[in-house]
Amino acid sequence: MLESSSVLLFIVFVLLFISLLFVVIIRKNGTAALVWHEIIKEKITNFIMNQSKEQRILNFVLQNAVRGDPCSVMETIDKYCSEKEWAMNVGDEKGVILDKTVEEVNPKVALELGTYCGYSAVRIARLLKAGARLLTVEFNPEFAAIAKQMIEFAGVQDKVKLLEGPSEVIIPQLKKKYEVDTLDFVFVDHWKDRYTPDTILLQECSLLRKGSVLLADNIIFPGAPEFVKYIRNNPRFQCSTYPSHLEYMKVQDAMEKAVFLG
Ligand SMILES: C[S@@+](CC[C@H](N)C(=O)[O-])C[C@H]1O[C@@H](n2cnc3c(N)ncnc32)[C@H](O)[C@@H]1O
Repeated sequence: MLESSSVLLFIVFVLLFISLLFVVIIRKNGTAALVWHEIIKEKITNFIMNQSKEQRILNFVLQNAVRGDPCSVMETIDKYCSEKEWAMNVGDEKGVILDKTVEEVNPKVALELGTYCGYSAVRIARLLKAGARLLTVEFNPEFAAIAKQMIEFAGVQDKVKLLEGPSEVIIPQLKKKYEVDTLDFVFVDHWKDRYTPDTILLQECSLLRKGSVLLADNIIFPGAPEFVKYIRNNPRFQCSTYPSHLEYMKVQDAMEKAVFLG
């Protein structure tokens, strides 16, 4: 009897230890955290609720944020994603770097590659001066539909045009179809393997002018080593790095700013 209760106690102790180790690993290791949040936890919650995480983020905003107030929308998304479910928005910490860059550049025409739920689009649009516009590109139709509602709820729809499709198809259409001469600012935040080819495409399509500013997210985590190598060794760009953390986590990340020298 005594022996079997000791075995049970030992098993409980081991399980508790494993759980604790799991929590520590998730907090410290970005890859483990993403596997847990984006694959295991998200898939289980989607199955139980029969709804996507992005729909849950939108619903939380519709129920808790102030309509027509972009800051309230951003804060509500940040609250949901830091307290309830992690999501790949640029987030509040790197968002400050994004804000400062947008304010410094004061773009008339801005481009965002990777809209997701519209968090950074709202963030950028709220800082645009009268007459300025943001074109934001998203190839996932479900995310694009969520972002459209988010942008409208935040009241910045007159400044933002959401272009649905792959960046490699949209970029060559910008001049003729969307009447872009050159871009003052580009926020590069889509899949990392597209950072370099799309930066090359922007140049090939003559969409960058002397002084155009590119800001690329996630250069440490998940990381874009090929892009970092390309941009830092390119005499046509002047680069600076802004160390920060992965959105809503303690994992190290950074943003790369690249000024096109012409
Ligand atoms: C990190 S999320 C963007 C987050 C968003 N910028 C924010 O901070 O709120 C990346 C998004 O880019 C989209 N994406 C990835 N590759 C793309 C491509 N080649 N063309 C268009 N969208 C792309 C994904 O579907 C995803 O929604």
